[in-house]
Amino acid sequence: MDQLIIEGGNRLEGTIEIKGAKNAILPILAGSLLTTEKVILNNVPVVKDVLIMKELVHKCGAKINFENNTIYTKSNGLKETVLPVTMVKKISSSFLLVGALLNHFSKVKISWPGGCSIGNRKLDSHIKGLTALGANIYIENGYIIAEANKGLNGADISFKIPSVGATHHILIAACLADGETIIKNASKEPEVVDLANFLNSMGADIKGAGTALIRINGVEKLDGTTYSIIPDRINTATYMIAAAVTEGNIQLKNSNLKFLKNFADKLRKSEVEIIENDEGVGVAATDKIQPMEIITEVYPGFPTDMQPVITPLLAIADGESNIRENIFNSRFNHIQGLLKMGADIKIDGNTAIINGVDRLKGSQVTALDLRAGAALVLAGLNARGVTVIDNVYQIDRGYETIVDILKGVGANIERRFFDANKKTFNPPKCTTWRSPVSAL
Ligand code: EPU
Repeated sequence: MDQLIIEGGNRLEGTIEIKGAKNAILPILAGSLLTTEKVILNNVPVVKDVLIMKELVHKCGAKINFENNTIYTKSNGLKETVLPVTMVKKISSSFLLVGALLNHFSKVKISWPGGCSIGNRKLDSHIKGLTALGANIYIENGYIIAEANKGLNGADISFKIPSVGATHHILIAACLADGETIIKNASKEPEVVDLANFLNSMGADIKGAGTALIRINGVEKLDGTTYSIIPDRINTATYMIAAAVTEGNIQLKNSNLKFLKNFADKLRKSEVEIIENDEGVGVAATDKIQPMEIITEVYPGFPTDMQPVITPLLAIADGESNIRENIFNSRFNHIQGLLKMGADIKIDGNTAIINGVDRLKGSQVTALDLRAGAALVLAGLNARGVTVIDNVYQIDRGYETIVDILKGVGANIERRFFDANKKTFNPPKCTTWRSPVSAL
């Protein structure tokens, strides 16, 4: 229920430190259930989705502790349990627990997983893969039941389309299975490679992660490990756009362009200056943003997650841009808010046609999903006047301390906390804050 309030127009300047990738730590937490020994995970972002996954891992019986961006976990007391529907529904990665738990129990019961409402989030490839490994999966009273009475066995699995989640799932399920598993048409995303590297650091035998063909040789047991999560490429991209929409100059520490080549190439073509050095990534921009064509594709193509994030920049570019969304069938949740903020965007099927305007204008808008929420923050940083963003929970799912981070580089942004008892918003703490209500 909390709100973000942004008064746009400040040029952002300074340094932002990038934390680990949410979409890497979530499957890694599921994978940590495969060993009974201690696992230490560094560079973990403190974001809502990770806190939910931590709680789910705890409900499975693991001891887990999260402090100073490090998670300590030990899974030697796992118990058969029905995971709370409310938590399972909040994140898509909750479903990955099935593949991990089938290595301990012959039956797992889970409700339907959730995640962002960005279109169909099918599970058929997960189910196909688990079934090939020997699981019997069916629906009973609204729950998904997975049974593997004879354990899991290696298999040849060929996905119809590359799925990040299904590739994660089979990596987790197969590394303790009996024999060799081959995944064809696997996802090549960096978060898949990070999971494979993590599992290999525990003694798994996974080869080919990062290519379309992954081979997993089942091993007897996995050991404990200490592992550091890769930098969050989506957060890096988000703060790169924050610099671009404010004609700012931001240095992103602890990140790089290794997994952002396609995105960085697009930005460079649109005349945003990007420099990579030992310190990280530097981004500087002027008011001359060139329009562009974007087609979202699986890695290493332009990532779907960065499509909403780049839209506010195209909304102020010098001319017409096009975005074709190819991965999810409903990922234009940010456009409703951007239209309210004065953007000129038309949607034709899975294509958004964006005609750049001079500058966006503040309005009251709602974060309908995580990256849509991030897009509205970026739009608010550019906009003339005050932007109020409702449903901040969505943004908290994937951005650690976004208000402090943006304030640190000069943004005029505050969070207003909703007091559920009084059913009112607490005014922002900042004493210099001018009430936005009159400005709206
Ligand atoms: N799909 C199927 N069958 C399946 C699984 C997926 O048809 O069994 C389809 C989906 O319907 C979708 C496409 O395949 O159209 C891509 O889905 P994928 O499985 O690759 O995505 P995901 O695992 O559900 C992860 C990220 C998303 C990110 C996508 C694509 C996590 C927790 N989520 O989702 O991240 O957009 O990969 O890269 O890792 C976000 O962080 O905001 C986010 C939504």
